[in-house]
Amino acid sequence: MSLMIWKLSTDSEIYKKVLDEQMDILRKREEGAEDRLTWAEIQKMKYTWRVAQELMRIIPPVFGSFRKALKDTEYGGYDIPKGWQVYCVSHGTHMNKEIFEKPTEFDPSRFENPSKPIPPYAYIPFGGGLHTCVGNEFARVEVLTTIHNLVTMFEWSQVFPDEIITRQPMPYPSMGLPIKIRPRKL
Ligand code: HEM
Repeated sequence: MSLMIWKLSTDSEIYKKVLDEQMDILRKREEGAEDRLTWAEIQKMKYTWRVAQELMRIIPPVFGSFRKALKDTEYGGYDIPKGWQVYCVSHGTHMNKEIFEKPTEFDPSRFENPSKPIPPYAYIPFGGGLHTCVGNEFARVEVLTTIHNLVTMFEWSQVFPDEIITRQPMPYPSMGLPIKIRPRKL
């Protein structure tokens, strides 16, 4: 969520597209319908979620996870003895140009029409396999709901426009991301 707030205040092009998508949802809300966000509306937030996906590709909130070898294993030319722990780092695949073309470029459209399909276990902000994050759908709904309310009701700017993201070890805005916020003029 912090990364989204940070990205939307530093990248006007991405911000405009997210705002358009969210305002469109408000405009299309039928007269007399519930004035609160609905499940169907959350499903329409395709672009906003692609921005979150791309952020988690470049700046994974959790930078990897451990797995223990249950038996002697050979992988990629390495012998991994039974009982050893292996740390799988998301950057290993997230920034691999064989998997993600121009990996350092921020491009949410790569999750819409990838030039080649993303192989299983290559995009792993939520891990993968039996212990994959159980909260990933909840996280999606939480982020989309927050961003919807934030961009449709408020405008904001950073107190420190050049603030960078640092790791400790999770990614954090280095100055704590103070923002100046005001109601959006409709
Ligand atoms: C953007 C938000 C989140 C990210 C990036 C994230 C990421 C991760 C990652 C990388 C793992 C390790 C997966 C693996 O070892 O393969 C994990 C596990 C887990 N996550 Fe999340 N998570 C997020 C939000 C949440 C939320 C909101 C909840 C709960 C409501 C949650 C609950 C869990 C639990 C219980 C596990 C352990 C699953 C297991 O070991 O079987 N996570 N998460």
